[in-house]
Amino acid sequence: MRSAERVAVLTGAGVSAESGVPTFRGEDGLWKKFRPEELANFDAFMRNPKLVWEWYNYRKKLIHEVKPNLGHYALAKMEDVCPEFWLITQNVDGLHRKAGSRKILELHGNIMRSRCVECGEESDTVELREGGELPRCRCGALMRPDVVWFGEMLPEDVLRRAFEAARECDLFFSIGTSAVVQPAASMPLVAKEAGAFVVEVNTEPTVISESVDESILGMSGEVLPKLLKEAWGVEI
Ligand code: APR
Repeated sequence: MRSAERVAVLTGAGVSAESGVPTFRGEDGLWKKFRPEELANFDAFMRNPKLVWEWYNYRKKLIHEVKPNLGHYALAKMEDVCPEFWLITQNVDGLHRKAGSRKILELHGNIMRSRCVECGEESDTVELREGGELPRCRCGALMRPDVVWFGEMLPEDVLRRAFEAARECDLFFSIGTSAVVQPAASMPLVAKEAGAFVVEVNTEPTVISESVDESILGMSGEVLPKLLKEAWGVEI
């Protein structure tokens, strides 16, 4: 690890679990309580935008109240000590940026931003206000949360750069993701195929655990600071 020149990291909901952000498929995961087909796809949004906005406001309020954990801070520090580094995240919570990470590729968008369903205009202020009107763009069309929903394409440029980082890195981490949602789930295997040393950090085995070089079972907020210290001699 310490001899790695180019490091790429893929994170999922598990890296934010210790901050109090629910995962999707864990014990008390969001998809255990809510139906993604009613809340996380475009048709559902157009059928009932108010319901979807209320759900995203509930998640935004929760995210506003939490702070990054040691796992986020360790990755921000790792970016400083590695010659080349990319952080590819499936998370829409913005906690990596809050922890000081800079080179971030947000594969699934950002919950704090909204976007016009017609003209694509983005905003980080427009949202459904308490008891208020549905948020609208200057062009008059509906604004939607700027996240990637099921069945939607990921932002092309971000996806291209993420796969490039996976193909070109010599050390790849897969952290806190169940590795079941494509295309993100194939990135650790693309990195392995391209010759990188692939390390997984998760509280439990996943579908890729047999295919990676090292599968470390543990909480990322505990494991990552230790790895940072052991491999790069940096304490946080
Ligand atoms: N440290 C490390 N891993 C953890 C921790 C922790 N503290 N807590 C939970 N995990 C692991 C779980 O074991 C699980 O494998 O994190 C993973 C979270 O998996 P999911 O809930 O499936 O989340 P994720 O992989 O990010 O989901 C991918 O699916 O619902 C869509 O768009 C959404 O980005 C999301 C995508």
